[in-house]
Amino acid sequence: MQLISTLSAVLAVTGAAVAGPTGQKGPAFRWHGPAPHPGHGPSPPGRPLPPVARPPPPPPGAPKDQGLYTAMRARGREFIGTAVTFRNDTAEAAIYGNKADFNSITPENAMKWEVTEPQRGNFTFDDADRYVDYATANGIEIHCHNLVWHSQLPPWVTAGKFDNATLIGIMHDHIKGLAGRYAGRCTRWDVVNEALDEDGTYRKSVWYNTIGEAFLPMAFKFAREVDPKAQLYYNDYNLEYNEAKTTGAQRIVKLIQSYGVEIDGVGFQAHVASETTPTSGGPAPNQTVLEAAFNQMTSQNVNVIYTEIDVRMNTPATPAKLAVQAETYRSLAAACLSVKRCVGMTLWGVSDKYSWIPGTFPGEGAANVWNETMQKKPAYDGFLKGIQTGGR
Ligand SMILES: *[C@@H]1O[C@H](CO)[C@@H](O)[C@H](O)[C@H]1NC(C)=O
Ligand SMILES: *[C@@H]1O[C@H](CO)[C@@H](O)[C@H](O)[C@H]1NC(C)=O
Ligand SMILES: *[C@@H]1O[C@H](CO)[C@@H](O)[C@H](O)[C@H]1NC(C)=O
Ligand SMILES: *[C@@H]1O[C@H](CO)[C@@H](O)[C@H](O)[C@H]1NC(C)=O
Ligand SMILES: *[C@@H]1O[C@H](CO)[C@@H](O)[C@H](O)[C@H]1NC(C)=O
Repeated sequence: MQLISTLSAVLAVTGAAVAGPTGQKGPAFRWHGPAPHPGHGPSPPGRPLPPVARPPPPPPGAPKDQGLYTAMRARGREFIGTAVTFRNDTAEAAIYGNKADFNSITPENAMKWEVTEPQRGNFTFDDADRYVDYATANGIEIHCHNLVWHSQLPPWVTAGKFDNATLIGIMHDHIKGLAGRYAGRCTRWDVVNEALDEDGTYRKSVWYNTIGEAFLPMAFKFAREVDPKAQLYYNDYNLEYNEAKTTGAQRIVKLIQSYGVEIDGVGFQAHVASETTPTSGGPAPNQTVLEAAFNQMTSQNVNVIYTEIDVRMNTPATPAKLAVQAETYRSLAAACLSVKRCVGMTLWGVSDKYSWIPGTFPGEGAANVWNETMQKKPAYDGFLKGIQTGGR
């Protein structure tokens, strides 16, 4: 372990930063099994500042007036969030703007590298600013997403053939520019996203291939330096299964800690299915497995959260399938509430209308909690029930 001295030397590398406009694209999601790449339609510009809606009526048998977030808060946990893309849809905006259900947003695309540093040293923050300003104006949390990822990178990074020292400097500049701009305003950062393959070994990426595993502790160290307040997370998909990839994430936590660098938590994306589909190995793990996966991580003294929940199925949905899906949402929430250090959960969008799934996995979908006409599905009651009763 060459550790801190090496990192300190690396930190001597200095950074750039400045500002300008925008671009757009897909989510950080995934499936259990082999992998096509996600696309996500561009989101039209527009700034719907949603009204704060009245709390929804309580589901039968539930304590009066509890929404998803008010129930979560009543259980002593921190947040319920959703991924958000601003677009011209006031019905959608009213759902994620309802403070009884949500006290956190994750910008779906606005902070990704290709959007925020499309050319080297030329930072474009206009789109990202809107999300941070929305969170501030509404007094809610913002889960900032993300700093270092192999996907949605601009070509200048992937095709630059940079040597190790140069690429470390590029990573440092990006983190300084982006996390530095929002220092003190991001509640959490996904510092490194999806660094693992399914077998728990490192994913081959420009970061790993050039820098080696040291890119992980370096990224966290750089992020901590520019934003002492944000909670710093490693985020990945398929960690819910408590298999080799989960152990790989635990190894990443230990690696970062072995460098004397802080990591606050691990984000489990939770892009799961309620039944076997062509792109899922089967239905989501049961609650016992979900909890065991969390416990493996919290044993390293870090928090855990769900960061990108959706529960897909073979479409069309039927009442029976929606009931199974509701139970899956319940078990995810109950697993979180059963683990003390699970501090919150984020849905990957609110409505089936805008889900990335049908466009990426044709024949699958209906994965979210509100349907295409913005009505609550049985999944809402299932998720709420899991929050209210999990771990009791
Ligand atoms: C937004 O939606 C409203 C109502 O559907 C429509 O009248 C308006 O033209 C739309 N604005 C934009 C910029 O698309
Ligand atoms: C920075 O990027 C923006 C958006 O792509 C572009 O309009 C602007 O000309 C760029 N500035 C420089 C100095 O390259
Ligand atoms: C890149 O440089 C860093 C810092 O000196 C070092 O820790 C890492 O092992 C190097 N990676 C490779 C592949 O040489
Ligand atoms: C949960 O799933 C695991 C793995 O498939 C299985 O071994 C276990 O028996 C299941 N537990 C319950 C309570 O169904
Ligand atoms: C959405 O849910 C409502 C209420 O259950 C239902 O009437 C409507 O048909 C659903 N819309 C779609 C597109 O499924």
